Amino acid sequence: MQPLRIGIIGTGWFSQVHADHLVTLDDVVLQAICGSSLEKGDQMARRYGAAGYGHVKDMLEAEKLDAVYICVPPMAHGEIEELLIDRGIPFLVEKPIGTDTELPRRLLRQIEAKSLLTSVGYHFRYKATVAQMKQLLSEQQVGMAVGQWMGSMPGVAWWRQQEGSGGQFIEQTTHIVDILRYCLGDVEEVYAMYGSRVMHEQHDYVSVPDVGTVTLKLSSGVIASISNTCVLPGNMDQTGITFYTGEGVLDWNPSRLKVMTPQVSTEYTDPTNPYRLESEAFIYAIRSGDTSRIRSDYADAFKTQLVTCAALESATLGKTVKIQY
Ligand SMILES: NC(=O)c1ccc[n+]([C@@H]2O[C@H](COP(=O)([O-])OP(=O)(O)OC[C@H]3O[C@@H](n4cnc5c(N)ncnc54)[C@H](O)[C@@H]3O)[C@@H](O)[C@H]2O)c1
Repeated sequence: MQPLRIGIIGTGWFSQVHADHLVTLDDVVLQAICGSSLEKGDQMARRYGAAGYGHVKDMLEAEKLDAVYICVPPMAHGEIEELLIDRGIPFLVEKPIGTDTELPRRLLRQIEAKSLLTSVGYHFRYKATVAQMKQLLSEQQVGMAVGQWMGSMPGVAWWRQQEGSGGQFIEQTTHIVDILRYCLGDVEEVYAMYGSRVMHEQHDYVSVPDVGTVTLKLSSGVIASISNTCVLPGNMDQTGITFYTGEGVLDWNPSRLKVMTPQVSTEYTDPTNPYRLESEAFIYAIRSGDTSRIRSDYADAFKTQLVTCAALESATLGKTVKIQY
């Protein structure tokens, strides 16, 4: 069997997380790495025995790649995807797929026109605890959900800029919105309030809000509330989602699922690495053409993006926003 030749775009934290998994997979070669400069591309490529590049076009002209991982900040999407779509090269793109909905909508049309295989880095979908929660919720009458991403502000400059990241709800809390959608289906409308309380006084060049609460109504009638903040000092993260049903409470965070009824409370953990499962599913799909193991593709991720961007619109307008699918 010919090994699959993979390229990575981006040389930051998450490119390295993906690269570390890719080099341990069977019949996969990490062939090329493209940075925002040749120097950065070369520097990371040397560590993995790959070829380094400073522009995506150069990489795609020089290499025959079977798939590409896109691990760039939210504002850097667009040209990269178009070059890959033009050449029919499948890609796994990290979330979020942009800072707005206009560009992803255009890219989705191009992806669909070519029936291109894609995967999006909503890795929590690969956790066994999330699958278990989804199954349990399908058997229960769900009333409402309350989610949160309470943490500190990431150090990278682009994250603090509204036009760089889209803000915390689009960049980070999108994971919680995606779990909600994955478990309970589409969101119909949102109402959001955002504020800037702390971070703009502690740091220069912060234009993202640092607190926010979003109320969501799902097509099923379920009501949810998801809040986020990045004002906390380090190592105090509280991230997760809790579902309230006719049978009890399902409380999920990245390290466990707790299922509570009046009689019993049971905790489930999942030692597997969801990033690895995500990559295995993508690689399997490229090899076999069977995409059934991919739990988030571009079309599905676009729906999550519609919700997080509608929340920003709502916070800006001070009005409820209905999602246009
Ligand atoms: N799924 C997850 O759990 C998870 C975790 C962390 C980050 N992410 C996502 O991964 C993406 C990248 O995050 P990160 O933490 O690696 O950021 P980072 O700032 O550490 O790295 C981003 C890299 O992209 C490069 N870059 C920017 N524009 C480029 C271009 N046009 N061509 C080539 N390289 C370019 C930068 O030089 C940098 O090396 C973000 O969208 C983030 O949300 C996902």
